[in-house]
Amino acid sequence: MHEAAVIEISKFGPPEVLKIRKQSIAPPAPDEMIIRVRAIGLNFADIFERLGLYAAAPKAPFVPGFEVAGTVEEVGSSVEQFERGQRVLAVTRFGGYQTLLKTQQSLVRALPDDFTFEEGAGFATTYLTAYHGLLNLAHLQHQESVLIHAAAGGVGTAAVQIAQVFDAEIFATCGSQEKTNFLKEMGIEHTIDYRKTDFEKEVRSRSDTGGIDIIMDSVGGETFRKGYRLLNPMGRLIVFGLGDLMPSGRKPNWPKLAYKYLTLPRFGPAKLIGDNKTVAGFNLAYMFKFKSTFSDSMDQLMAWVRDGRLRTVVGRTFPFEQAAQAQTYLQSRQSIGKVVLTVD
Ligand SMILES: NC(=O)c1ccc[n+]([C@@H]2O[C@H](COP(=O)([O-])OP(=O)(O)OC[C@H]3O[C@@H](n4cnc5c(N)ncnc54)[C@H](OP(=O)(O)O)[C@@H]3O)[C@@H](O)[C@H]2O)c1
Repeated sequence: MHEAAVIEISKFGPPEVLKIRKQSIAPPAPDEMIIRVRAIGLNFADIFERLGLYAAAPKAPFVPGFEVAGTVEEVGSSVEQFERGQRVLAVTRFGGYQTLLKTQQSLVRALPDDFTFEEGAGFATTYLTAYHGLLNLAHLQHQESVLIHAAAGGVGTAAVQIAQVFDAEIFATCGSQEKTNFLKEMGIEHTIDYRKTDFEKEVRSRSDTGGIDIIMDSVGGETFRKGYRLLNPMGRLIVFGLGDLMPSGRKPNWPKLAYKYLTLPRFGPAKLIGDNKTVAGFNLAYMFKFKSTFSDSMDQLMAWVRDGRLRTVVGRTFPFEQAAQAQTYLQSRQSIGKVVLTVD
């Protein structure tokens, strides 16, 4: 038996509901391994979960967390690809906020030699999300135009890098001058601060076709509507998040939330057929049974890492014990790239 420290959502609520406790970890089954976690990638969904707004999550109490990096502590009897002490990264369906993680070997990859644990921790779920939207669903082609919302964030920066592999014409939205400057440093010409200017008008005037081939939208509400209008014929709108439903304060404003939820756009089949447009959605949390999709996507991502095409942007780290502060920072809309917890 091993003993881990875990951070759990003890009940739904503000950041203080995150509590550290000890937990025993039984030895791994034959195809499992135990990772000594050195860093944990935070995801926006962790906050929705803590607030009780994430349908895919278990009932509280539970341990959140979708991605980690660390070293192999112990392997099951049929694990041959990994050995004790090896540096690894992993995607996990909840349970990532812990110092020892037991997981299936299929969800683990070797950590690239030149990646830090922090970079590794911010990779798996984040890049799988961007990859699934852009490649598995939108089938991004060389030099297509791509509009990426929340482009300076974790998934956003991953999507930017993947789109750059395809030499795409990227339009990137974000909510501050600091983020705009950062996106320009990433090599993006068409940056749009949505707080200063209407992104729909901006894209129309700047794009050669007046529209966009692919949109990666994790914001929701009005951006879905504008995005649909902006799609070129044969365009693909990928919806994978509802950032607009995130409360700005410590608790949900239920009437406001209900209004936003009930007024989300509906895309009818007759209109989709007539417009020749595609709208697709996904949530990785529901996709763990599609093992080959995960595995193939991850293998391609790791190949691009080896080619130097992808590298996690780590914006800020917090110690494990400060998960509440880290989540508050991520919720504040100020973060750039990934927010990561470090474990000593
Ligand atoms: N479906 C899936 O499987 C999946 C997987 C991973 C992530 N996601 C979704 O992808 C999105 C990005 O996730 P992430 O973890 O990489 O987070 P992130 O982009 O690093 O941080 C969230 C960003 O969203 C933007 N945002 C837009 N509206 C917001 C609001 N009302 N409140 C707070 N922030 C808002 C902010 O950037 P700007 O103000 O600069 O736009 C903020 O910095 C989230 O919506 C998440 O739920 C979905």
